[in-house]
Amino acid sequence: MGTITLINNETGKSYEFDLIDCTRGPKAINFSKLFETTGIFSYDPGYGSTAGCESTISYIDGKKGELLYKGIPIEDLVMHYSFSDICKFLISGDLPKNEQESLEFDLELRHRGFLHEKLKRMFDVFPDRAHPMATLSALVSVLSTLYVDYKDEGDTDDYQTMARRIIGKIPTMVAYCYRNSVGAPFIQPDISKSYIENFLYMLRGYPHSRLKHTIYGEQEISELEIKALNKILILHADHGQNASTTTVRNVASTGVHPYAAISSGISALWGPVHGGANEKVLRQLNEIGDVKNVDKFIARAKDKNDSFRLMGFGHRVYKNYDPRAKVLKTLKDELDQQGIKMDSYLSDIAQKVEEVALSDDYFKERGLYPNVDFYSGIILTALKIPTELFTPIFVMGRMPGWCAQLIEHNKNPHARITRPRQVYLGK
Ligand code: ACO
Repeated sequence: MGTITLINNETGKSYEFDLIDCTRGPKAINFSKLFETTGIFSYDPGYGSTAGCESTISYIDGKKGELLYKGIPIEDLVMHYSFSDICKFLISGDLPKNEQESLEFDLELRHRGFLHEKLKRMFDVFPDRAHPMATLSALVSVLSTLYVDYKDEGDTDDYQTMARRIIGKIPTMVAYCYRNSVGAPFIQPDISKSYIENFLYMLRGYPHSRLKHTIYGEQEISELEIKALNKILILHADHGQNASTTTVRNVASTGVHPYAAISSGISALWGPVHGGANEKVLRQLNEIGDVKNVDKFIARAKDKNDSFRLMGFGHRVYKNYDPRAKVLKTLKDELDQQGIKMDSYLSDIAQKVEEVALSDDYFKERGLYPNVDFYSGIILTALKIPTELFTPIFVMGRMPGWCAQLIEHNKNPHARITRPRQVYLGK
């Protein structure tokens, strides 16, 4: 631990602040008493240089392009674990020690997949064209009216139950959002199917599963699809103090019901420059329409008088290739070879966009690389996931991260209500 000295050039006074050694990455200045000591506060719009909490959940090295969950690189986790294993890991701190433990946790999630009948009736109030992110945020908020038994006194068991329940229910909600929008009847969770298979079944299955029909035609759920979705969800499971996680923590800091905090996180994730980018990327690739138009769109992205941005490019922390995008790019090619065919029209345009952008000085100077949203949509399309469900799938993936962050926040006796200041420039 070192110190740093701040000198006020107006008064000549100097002040010393402690430096905090993070276990990885750069040091931080402890400015928590900055105002009390100096009478001056810090200004950092968008919080690019500010940490709002201590955390042990995920670590990003933006320069190297590295992401770790509890110290383990995501590349290792996607190779060896299922998404439900990662849920267990993030919320309880331990990976399953063997297949039995892995199955037990998956089974618990499956059993928690059923929705309260009253919650199902809520779907009637949403119009067919309601965006599923709005529906999901509302439904999760309603969960806080159905599960009022948590005590919120730092009770770890209550928060574990809260986490497992919502992780169990969110796939059902996502699948029902879609079925409701197309007027298809809901399918009850089938606990004989794994967490991921069950989601695909509830999304696609014909109401009578004995008939091997689906709403997409004669389509069985393959092991390869289950594996692919497991990987995609693992890659989205946690990502430091991003906008939606910060929202969850901020809202939780007021002491509100945990599902109300998560509902706010879903709303924050919906935004097109955050999780909503995966849907926008696909729409943008379609808008580009042909590899020969790529240069024109890249020129628009660089034009400061044009609000057009290249969706799926750039990141606040990564100034290198987003490691999640790297895994997804490889996964896309592997799936294509193994029989889940990518839409070559979309793939070719994406490939060209990446090539042109990565060799362009504008993108190089600003460290703008493909992020997690750039390739996920192409894979989800190949998995026959409707475009409007891309961001809800992100919600499914991020749910264990939000829950882990809530658990961490709740355990911290020094956590305070979030209350930033403002640089007042008004009358
Ligand atoms: N296309 C073109 N230019 C870009 C892009 C882009 N996608 N992203 C950043 N830039 C430019 C900015 O115009 C700015 O240029 P300037 O220095 O000449 O003014 C510079 O790069 C820095 O950009 P900021 O907006 O300051 O970066 P910030 O960290 O605030 O924003 C963000 C990061 C929001 C992700 C941004 O890169 C973006 O809008 N990307 C497109 C949307 C997207 O893909 N979002 C998903 C991110 S991943 C996630 O949240 C799950």
